[in-house]
This record gives sequence, C-alpha cells and structure tokens, in this order.
Amino acid sequence: MSSLPRHLFRRLDESPDEDFYREPRLVTHIDDATIAALTQVYRELIPAGASVLDLMSSWVSHLPPEVDYGRVVGLGMNRVELAENPRLTSFLVHDLNRCPELPFADTTFDAVLNAVSIQYLTSPVEVLASVGRVLRPGGMHVVATSHRMFATKAVAAWHSLEAGDRMRLIAAYFSLAGGFETPQLIDRSPRGADPLWVVAARRAG
Ligand SMILES: C[S@@+](CC[C@H](N)C(=O)[O-])C[C@H]1O[C@@H](n2cnc3c(N)ncnc32)[C@H](O)[C@@H]1O
Repeated sequence: MSSLPRHLFRRLDESPDEDFYREPRLVTHIDDATIAALTQVYRELIPAGASVLDLMSSWVSHLPPEVDYGRVVGLGMNRVELAENPRLTSFLVHDLNRCPELPFADTTFDAVLNAVSIQYLTSPVEVLASVGRVLRPGGMHVVATSHRMFATKAVAAWHSLEAGDRMRLIAAYFSLAGGFETPQLIDRSPRGADPLWVVAARRAG
C-alpha cells in the first residue's frame, strides 16, 4: 500500500519487538510539562463519553483525569505495563509490526491515540489505514511526537529528519493511508521541557 521506499523503515535492531519490550518499563518517556501539554491537547480534541483506542500504549495514557470516556482500550507490547494503566477499561498485546491490521470491527472508536511511538512503526501507512477503518466518520486520530526515542528501534526515516519534516512525514502517512481529512500540525512544546508536536486528522465522511 505504501509507496514509500522500504529502506526508510529499516531499523538498527531488527530483532523481534517482543524481545525488546519483554521487560516492563514503568517510566515516563517525556517530561511532566510535556505530558501536561499532551493532556491539554486531548482535553481539546476528544469529547467526554468517546470510545478511545490508545495505540502503542503503556502504563499511562495521559488522558485528562477529570473526563469520563465511554471506554479506553490499550494496545501495546507489554502486558504488565498495560495492566498497570489505570485509564484502560481493557487491553491487548498486539505487535503492529508483525500485523498492522487492528483486531477491531469497522467504526468502533471515536478517537485513536498514538503517543510518542509512531517512530517505531515499520508499516505506518498500513496501520493508519486500519486506524481509519476502526474510526467512526468524524472520529480523530491524534499522533503525538517528541524527540526522545529508543534509537535502535526507530525507523531510518525518523533518524534522517528534523522535527518539522517528521510532522510532514506523518501527514504523508495520513495522506497515503487515505480516508482522512487534511491533518492539523500542532506545536505545543512547553518552554524548557521535551517538545510536543502533534499531527491530528479526522476520518472523512
Ligand atoms: C516510548 S513507549 C510510549 C508508551 C506510551 N504511549 C506513552 O506515551 O508513555 C513506546 C511504546 O510503543 C509500544 N510499541 C513498540 N513497538 C510496538 C509494536 N511493534 N506494536 C505495538 N506496540 C509497540 C511499546 O509497547 C511501548 O509501550
């Protein structure tokens, strides 16, 4: 599906992701101020009562604590991390690099999140096409990025680009996946903390 060259999605560490993520990491991957900025983005973009899928999830989802959602499903690589996440109403372990297709019915969710992890996807266009399938029309996919990463697991394209071009790369993923409105590129980087760049788009129709 992707017309992007495959070599852009090679990684220094091509060993199975299940090995890399076998041990739980109960840590945060961005500064507290950056988490607060991301929580504010979610507050603005995701309505109360929404059915939410948190992709590439761990033990925190960064959703606003005062907002009640219909349900929050977590999908990630480590069962212990997901079991510790207080926002999740259910979770599953699923390797998106082995199987980019999401195991959910069409039009299941109002919002799909991906926080500081899209750089690890080796078939991002296929994953975004599946996100479009499981979103309801008008539902939103919110992709948040920063500058920290597990370098050996990030794809070559990510390493070769500066921040602005990384956002445009994600916008290109949306465009190639098809079925989304034009993405918004949002810079919410707090002063003196890890940056926060968000690319968000609604499912068309
Ligand atoms: C940097 S952590 C971010 C976790 C969480 N989203 C957050 O904001 O703290 C990267 C996450 O990506 C997930 N991940 C990495 N490779 C994955 C894959 N192939 N399929 C599904 N999830 C993956 C891991 O389980 C891990 O939780």
